[in-house]
Amino acid sequence: MPKAIRVHAHGGPEVLIYEDCDASRPGPGQALIRHTAIGLNFIDVYFRTGLYPAPNGMPVIPGGEAAGVVLELGEGVDWFNVGDRVAYAVPTGAYCEERVIAADRLVKVPDGISDEQAAAMMLKGMTAEYLLRRTFKVKAGDIVLYHAAAGGVGLILGQWAKHLGATVIGTAGSDEKVSLAKAHGFDHVINYSAQDFVAEVARITDGRKCDVVYDSVGNDTFPGSLDCLRPMGTFVSFGQSSGPIPPFSISLLAQKGSLYATRPTIFAYNAKREDLVRSANALFDVVLKGAVEVSINQRYALRDAGQAHADLEGRRTTGTTILIP
Ligand SMILES: NC(=O)c1ccc[n+]([C@@H]2O[C@H](COP(=O)([O-])OP(=O)(O)OC[C@H]3O[C@@H](n4cnc5c(N)ncnc54)[C@H](OP(=O)(O)O)[C@@H]3O)[C@@H](O)[C@H]2O)c1
Repeated sequence: MPKAIRVHAHGGPEVLIYEDCDASRPGPGQALIRHTAIGLNFIDVYFRTGLYPAPNGMPVIPGGEAAGVVLELGEGVDWFNVGDRVAYAVPTGAYCEERVIAADRLVKVPDGISDEQAAAMMLKGMTAEYLLRRTFKVKAGDIVLYHAAAGGVGLILGQWAKHLGATVIGTAGSDEKVSLAKAHGFDHVINYSAQDFVAEVARITDGRKCDVVYDSVGNDTFPGSLDCLRPMGTFVSFGQSSGPIPPFSISLLAQKGSLYATRPTIFAYNAKREDLVRSANALFDVVLKGAVEVSINQRYALRDAGQAHADLEGRRTTGTTILIP
């Protein structure tokens, strides 16, 4: 019987239980796949703790990205063959050896990209894609601020933003992480555990400030992130690693300089298959041509997902992390 990590009751990493799960057959429009590698993401923590409700109720199998091989196809799926290497990004369900999934969520993994790379980057890399190319269209000369620059999304986004010609400023929680981010596209990196990042951004930019701030840290960087934006700049809140930002009055955006603010998710941006395929192809393209390197800095057995969560929440990981089934 295939194994999975399931959460029966919300809580800390200890609620991630490694157990048998039912094997099922693909229905119309579905595919059965065997995972070869699974990506770890902060969103998995939100589903474990209950910050995000499980889409199909409890128990929930966390996990938003993985790569694997097609074992069986349901009726009407004619765009894959059994044996194809595939990968995906969805909200939950990846922490398992085998799963049935809607086939329109899968993309083929091209030659030149390994299963481990694909598993590590589909959710994080397509997030970088939509943030940089669709939420705010970054162009040469723009000044970008990204918090938690040495993280999974961060090391990908830093390289990609640099490739687009932006000046890329990052923040990170230790001097080691500052060095790592500087080696992955970031022009300037502020240790925000030791320095006031608002003052540093003003200094680095000679008072011009940033065109866009991508903030996934949430509570701890709010409202400072707004003070890093030029008038009419764009605040993109796309996560809350330190906890949700408190509710605020929309008039705050007027006081801070007629700002734009948005709270996007990858699942809305890639809901249409044509957008998903375009996003994945853009990601594969920058990786294959060497503009973006995906750093897999931690590997755990799937059964040790609890330790992986503890390390991610404890700010002990850098770059991407994969779980091996
Ligand atoms: N909306 C979307 O579409 C979308 C998609 C993907 C990811 N996300 C969000 O993007 C963020 C990054 O995801 P990721 O998987 O790549 O994670 P990650 O950045 O590798 O890990 C989170 C990082 O946040 C920083 N952090 C700051 N305060 C923290 C705290 N109190 N507790 C834990 N970490 C803290 C840590 O870096 P430092 O030590 O350097 O501060 C930590 O390494 C997450 O918030 C995630 O939810 C959103």
